[in-house]
Amino acid sequence: MRRTHSCGELRPVHVGQRVTLQGWVHRRRTHGGLIFVDLRDRSGIVQMVCNSQRSPEALEIAEAVRVEYVLEVAGEVARRPAGSENPDLATGEVEVLADAMLVLNPARTPPFEINQDGEVDETLRLRYRYLDLRRERMRDIILLRHRMNQFLRTWLGAHDFVEVETPILVRETPGGAREFLVPSRVHPGEFYALPQAPQQYKQLLMVAGFDRYFQIARCFRDEDLRADRQPEFTQLDLELSFVEQEDILQIVERLHCELVEALTAKRLLQRPFPRLTFAESMARFGTDKPDLRWALELVDVGAIVADSGFEVFRAALATSGQVKALRAPGCAAYSRRELDELTRFAQARGAKGLVTMSLTAEGVRSPIAKFLSPAEQQAILARVGAEVGDLVLLVADSADVVAAVLSDLRVEIARRLGQLDPHVMAFCWIVDPPLVEWNADTQSWQAKHHQFTMPEVEDISLLDQDPGRVRAQQYDLVCNGYELGGGSVRIHRRDLQAKIFQILGMSDEEAQAKFGHLLEAFEYGTPPHGGIAIGLDRLMMLLADSENIREVIAFPKTQSAVEPMTGAPASVAPERLAELWVALRLPAPATQP
Ligand code: AMO
Ligand code: AMP
Repeated sequence: MRRTHSCGELRPVHVGQRVTLQGWVHRRRTHGGLIFVDLRDRSGIVQMVCNSQRSPEALEIAEAVRVEYVLEVAGEVARRPAGSENPDLATGEVEVLADAMLVLNPARTPPFEINQDGEVDETLRLRYRYLDLRRERMRDIILLRHRMNQFLRTWLGAHDFVEVETPILVRETPGGAREFLVPSRVHPGEFYALPQAPQQYKQLLMVAGFDRYFQIARCFRDEDLRADRQPEFTQLDLELSFVEQEDILQIVERLHCELVEALTAKRLLQRPFPRLTFAESMARFGTDKPDLRWALELVDVGAIVADSGFEVFRAALATSGQVKALRAPGCAAYSRRELDELTRFAQARGAKGLVTMSLTAEGVRSPIAKFLSPAEQQAILARVGAEVGDLVLLVADSADVVAAVLSDLRVEIARRLGQLDPHVMAFCWIVDPPLVEWNADTQSWQAKHHQFTMPEVEDISLLDQDPGRVRAQQYDLVCNGYELGGGSVRIHRRDLQAKIFQILGMSDEEAQAKFGHLLEAFEYGTPPHGGIAIGLDRLMMLLADSENIREVIAFPKTQSAVEPMTGAPASVAPERLAELWVALRLPAPATQP
């Protein structure tokens, strides 16, 4: 190799050494007869100095180069003159006195600045992702992601997990997210699906006796995208045999603590991770993924206002709804405009309105003060623990709407108060959710996690009479308001699995046709087993302080599931479709050229 060092590694110990570097022109400055070129590679940046005494040829080339040219530079490492050191640069105490410079490849002017951290339109960044990834922040994220994967592989290997790759072309699995389909050329009219998760394969690996499995698994789901959702994403997929729920929670908890400690300077808020039942989390935070960096909870004030003079409250409670309140410490001085903002925030999430009560030194200020007796007002304030200077927010509606609105308002208030410290990681477990929930659209029970989840043993007797009350041996790992992972203890008995399929509205024939392989496998000696999958993209968002999942994926899709660099998805030639036995029936506008 011609390259002797990487740009970022040069330090005072290298002074006097002759080096050859290769990299990109990060910046170029002219200073009288001197030209400074900052040369960059993955490891960092170091300054080249070109002058006519040392090398007129190098100076001439340095005059011609522009940002992002790829160069080779040979020279001598020197200490920078006193006063010209750059403390912002790891190599800032030294520079390279250039003796020879060679342009390996010129570059067009990039569509955005690579040497600056400024805001750039995201579509443009994705269109030129290879340039975007040259920027320091993106480089750091990709390298951190690499270190995360390395850590996981090492850690899991050391804890007896076996890495197994499972197929990407799989059979369609009903009951979960919508799957992408791949037409088969050799089997006319038949399709593979892309896996939404390697769920069945990992269970079958337990039947096969591998005991502990892991995979950094790519998963595909054809769903509407959000800030924390991509159509293809990566899971750390785990499955373990001969374990109970407690064993899985403990090992996953340890893995996360050690990962955070090894890769970041972040602080774990609580350890062991607090555990909340699903019901408790919904009641206290209005969500099954609470952000525990902010301690304040929702408070039910229904009992206080059931007979109040405010019709909205009475009506909500009379139709089995709720009235809940939230304290916003120190926000009593919020202006009319700020309160209107909060009201619109609530309305955007389905609230019909938002009652505000500001507790000032002069007393309570509220648009509904005249409808509530002083005793009712005092009882509400006491119940939420309000002090002078606090604002109290109340919503009356169905339990679902109250939860959706107040859980988001709770986080919004915390955010406004600067209480969501990105350096803190507040993990928790959400346990004991219901096994199934009623789907009003299909008029059937639907698995809350997935159809392979084991019911709570003491609830199994309820399966026949009252499936909605059966709790599942299921758990979600939550951190800072994100659902990071979910898993369960699995059913490993054929009869129970068949019964669950039945409750989910699947006939025996259908279950046999779609899951016969799994039911059959359960007849050949299946160990008790369970597992979990952690969304690695979401974990990376937390590790990298990003609120946008696209920031932590090298080549992500946009919100509309497009990959702007290559232009996927794209139409294909009619011959290709014919070969796949596919005919198109496009919606009218799309058929216009
Ligand atoms: P689940 O469907 O809960 O469980 O998925 C596990 C985790 O994967 C992440 N995730 C996503 N991340 C980005 N984009 C998406 N579209 C997306 N969908 C899911 C989340 C989620 O918590 N097979 C089961 C796991 C098991 O039971 O072992 C499963 O896939 O962080
Ligand atoms: P109104 O009686 O519509 O003028 O509303 C009086 C106050 O109650 C306003 O501040 C509304 O925003 C608020 N409000 C109306 N409906 C609800 C509701 N369902 N929950 C909470 N506040 C509400």
